[in-house]
Parts: sequence; structure tokens; C-alpha cells
Amino acid sequence: MSSPIKPLHLGNRTFPVNIIQGPLAGVSCAPFRRLAWQYSEPAFSCTEMISCKTLLYQPKLAEQRFTVKDPNEGPVCFQLSSNDPQELAEATRRVTELGADLIDLNCGCPVKKIRGKGAGSSLLVQPEKIYQLIQAMKQNTHVPVSIKIRVEGNSDETFNLEIAQAVSDAGADFLVVHGRHWTEGYDIPCRYDQIQFFVEAVKIPVIGNGDIKDHESLKKMFATGCAGVMIGRAGVGQPWLIRQLIAEIQQESYQLPTLKEIGALLIDHVSQLSILLNSEKFALLQARNFSKYYARTVENKIDFIQKMHQCHTLAQFTQLCHGYFTL
Ligand SMILES: Cc1cc2nc3c(=O)[nH]c(=O)nc-3n(C[C@H](O)[C@H](O)[C@H](O)COP(=O)(O)O)c2cc1C
Repeated sequence: MSSPIKPLHLGNRTFPVNIIQGPLAGVSCAPFRRLAWQYSEPAFSCTEMISCKTLLYQPKLAEQRFTVKDPNEGPVCFQLSSNDPQELAEATRRVTELGADLIDLNCGCPVKKIRGKGAGSSLLVQPEKIYQLIQAMKQNTHVPVSIKIRVEGNSDETFNLEIAQAVSDAGADFLVVHGRHWTEGYDIPCRYDQIQFFVEAVKIPVIGNGDIKDHESLKKMFATGCAGVMIGRAGVGQPWLIRQLIAEIQQESYQLPTLKEIGALLIDHVSQLSILLNSEKFALLQARNFSKYYARTVENKIDFIQKMHQCHTLAQFTQLCHGYFTL
């Protein structure tokens, strides 16, 4: 059987591989993405979801965190959030100037605050609005554009067909599909059949997303016929994962890092974050979102997480890590 790892053609860009590191709010700013590039080589990685209002009306805040690119990272997809075509058009021009390699619109976020603003997954039942939003991006940038959606899943909502039509008509360059309904938590199995529906319903490349964490789950996602895959949570705390998966698919061996090395990565991540945010306090607050992923194999993981919540300085945090990431 031929390898599913192939070059990925999206609009006017070609990437050497078809595995992407996806967007994760509270995690995927520049220090996280730099690590992904140091230890793997994804096709590209994504920013956290960036509100167009923040980008346009609080540019200082956006420039301090959301739109910063690390000189040592590869291509970046800027993910935007909006429900207003005009605002999105302006934001698209802005992130293109800032060096976005691709631009994605979030149409899957289930968070109440985002849905309440008419953005994220609330757009899924508004195919005409989605059409206008994609057009607003297409008309204001030369880089490939996409939307990232959830699916009908097991819900009563039906929108898969209409969204496929809107995405095709509006001329998106690719489509990212997370195989769950927005009401479904991560304990509900990903709907591969609905990802496959999109693969068959649209002519543009589809990127499959949901629960990819190892060789088996990677093969299962590629079996939908998707052109590429996107990794979410499994890439956090395992920046080497994409390289490991590619090695395994190619039947090459891969030397996993030791627990001590993983601890050093976590310290590096938080240190870089404190430089980016110019604040140890904010870096440690943000580290609460992702330390648990680094601590997957730590004995007394719960104990570690509880204690990290009490760290007020990077020095305390570093000392704590040295105590737990010891094997
Ligand atoms: C903490 C967290 C933050 C997320 N933030 C975003 C986001 O900003 N934009 C987005 O499109 N999806 C976001 N997602 C969804 C992921 O990108 C992905 O679709 C989902 O986790 C399923 O993939 P996985 O099973 O590989 O993790 C987030 C998920 C988590 C757990």
C-alpha cells in the first residue's frame, strides 16, 4: 500500500507533508509552534483563534501575543473569528500584511461567548453567511483560505450538505472538518463517515481532524480519503509527534524523549512564553492549560498539576518540574 504521507496542495501553496498542527486557544501561540517546528516538521501550524475585533481595535494586545511569529517556525495559518464580512475582509488584509501563510475562519467553536456573538459553530446553520465570509477572505488575500467546521454528528441539526455547497460555491481553497457536532464532547466518538461525506461532496482538499494520537488513529483518518490530517490535543506536550508518526508510517524507528527531556521541554515552553508575554505570572497562568499534557506519563500527575497551580515564579515552576520529571 502506498504511504498516506504526501505533499499537500492547498490553493497556490504546496507543503511537503500532509500533517498539520491545529489551533488550540490558550496554547498555540508562537512558543508552542516553535517547539512543533524544532521537533517535527508539520505542513504548517495554526495560531489560536483570533477575534477580528481584537485584531482591528486592540492591535497592541493582538501584536503582543496572537499575531507574533517566531523566526524559527515554518508556515503559519492565522485563524480568525468573526460573523461580519466587512470586518473579516479588513482583518484578512491585516493578517496577510503580518505574514499569514494561510487564513482560516473558525466555524466550529462551541463556546457560549463566541456563539453568542454569532461566530464559531453558530455559523454552521447559516450557509449564506458562510458563503459571504469566505468571499470576503478570498477577495482580500492571495494566500489560501479555509474554514474549520464541526459536523452534524448525532445531533438533530442538519447542515453538512448546505455547508459543502456554500464552501464550494464561495471558492474556499480547502476545508477542515472536525468530526463531531458542536454539542458533543471529546468522549463522543469522531464521525469518520461525515468527514468522508465532505471528502466526496467537495472538490477542494479536505483536512480531517479528531482524535489522532498514534499510527492507528492516523490511518483511520486517512481512510476517509482526506487529503491531509490535523492534530489537536495530541500535539501538546509532544512536539515530536508528527515526526514520530511519519517515521512509523515509513516503518522507521523513532527514539522517544525521556521524561527528563520532556520536563526540559515544558520549562523551555513556559520560559519562552514568559518572554513573549513579558510576564512570568501570565505565562504560568497559561501553562495551566497545557502542563497536564506534558505530564501524561508523570507519576503523581494530579499532585504535579495541583502544585503547579501554586507556582508564582518561573524559578518555583522549574524546581517543581525537576522534582517530577525525573526518570
Ligand atoms: C484547549 C482547546 C482549545 C481549542 N481551541 C481551538 C481554536 O482556537 N480554534 C479551533 O478551530 N479549534 C480549537 N480547538 C479544537 C481543536 O483544534 C480540534 O479541532 C479538537 O481538539 C479535535 O482534535 P483532537 O482530537 O486532535 O484534539 C480547541 C481544542 C481544545 C482542547
